[in-house]
Amino acid sequence: MDKGIVGIIDELAKEHILTEEKLQKLLLWQKKEEIEYLFECARAERERWYGKDVYIRGLIEFTNYCRNDCYYCGLRRSNSKAERYRLKYEEIIDCCRCGYDLGYRTFVLQGGEDYGYTKDMITELVSGIRRAYKDCAITLSFGEWEREAYEEWYMVGANRYLLRHETADCEHYSMLHPPQMSYENRMRCLKDLKEIGYQVGAGFMVGSPYQTTKHLVKDLMFLKKFSPHMVGIGPFISQKDTPFAEENNGALELTLKLLAILRLLLPKVLLPATTALGTIAPNGRQLGILAGANVVMPNLSPINVRKKYAIYDNKISSGEEAAEGKVRLEEQMESIGYKVVVDVGNSKMED
Ligand code: 5AD
Repeated sequence: MDKGIVGIIDELAKEHILTEEKLQKLLLWQKKEEIEYLFECARAERERWYGKDVYIRGLIEFTNYCRNDCYYCGLRRSNSKAERYRLKYEEIIDCCRCGYDLGYRTFVLQGGEDYGYTKDMITELVSGIRRAYKDCAITLSFGEWEREAYEEWYMVGANRYLLRHETADCEHYSMLHPPQMSYENRMRCLKDLKEIGYQVGAGFMVGSPYQTTKHLVKDLMFLKKFSPHMVGIGPFISQKDTPFAEENNGALELTLKLLAILRLLLPKVLLPATTALGTIAPNGRQLGILAGANVVMPNLSPINVRKKYAIYDNKISSGEEAAEGKVRLEEQMESIGYKVVVDVGNSKMED
């Protein structure tokens, strides 16, 4: 093995920080042997805090309406080909019930920024889920709102909020989003969420258009400083009805490398092996776990809407019932020596 790069990996594993130059070098390193060593270090760090446990989150994609027009996303407002849907209160509660019976103890309400769901409707929804499932975490993930809205939902029982920062470079941010959206407001939201007391998830796409290694270094430095409870990353995957239809997808190897680096930078972070990772490679999620990830987020949405939540092309959406899907996931995890657990799955950060 190359002594220089092994030295860098050892330093990262020990100090949980690296200079920008060293991060850049590690990100550009391609040789297999050293990268496998990086994964080994990441697995050891993960196991130190989470053992072989894999946390599961029940994902409920409750609306695909969106007021935004992000250039990469199939749910963008200008995509007239998207078949829009919005689940009703009762349908969402049914998804939770089904998930609870299967052993899910976190529900993730994910959606576009939908004007059809007002702050008060969300408040009612969160209150209803909280009343019915006192022993569960409620995670919200539907974009940028005013601080007051975030506060209200927290008060009625929401615990976590996922909002990827998308890129920590202001200029790059403006190449992925229309002028109505701003890097500043994104960061304002993340800051508000943290101050309010949410466990916060940030993250970015790997290989998004115009992304350079320097941008990735900036993302890693931002995440180290912001120190979120969770980091969601996955490869960019083009969607045929967006301005980025012809752009290349992000690479599996780079995504795995970033997962491992994130595990070592933020040892106790909750790190999902994302659906996008499972979409670009059939065993992508297993590889993600083997690179240091410790969370998977299976879909609990009703089967008839799953295909419509098409943020990118070929998104894996099995016609499987949630129950069958969970059995298969358990088998996949067991085959690589890990175990899906019934647990609310909090980050060990506050312990
Ligand atoms: N490919 C990969 N990830 C995407 N996202 C949106 N569009 C795509 C795409 N084409 C990610 C964004 C967003 C999250 C919900 O999904 O990072 O925050």
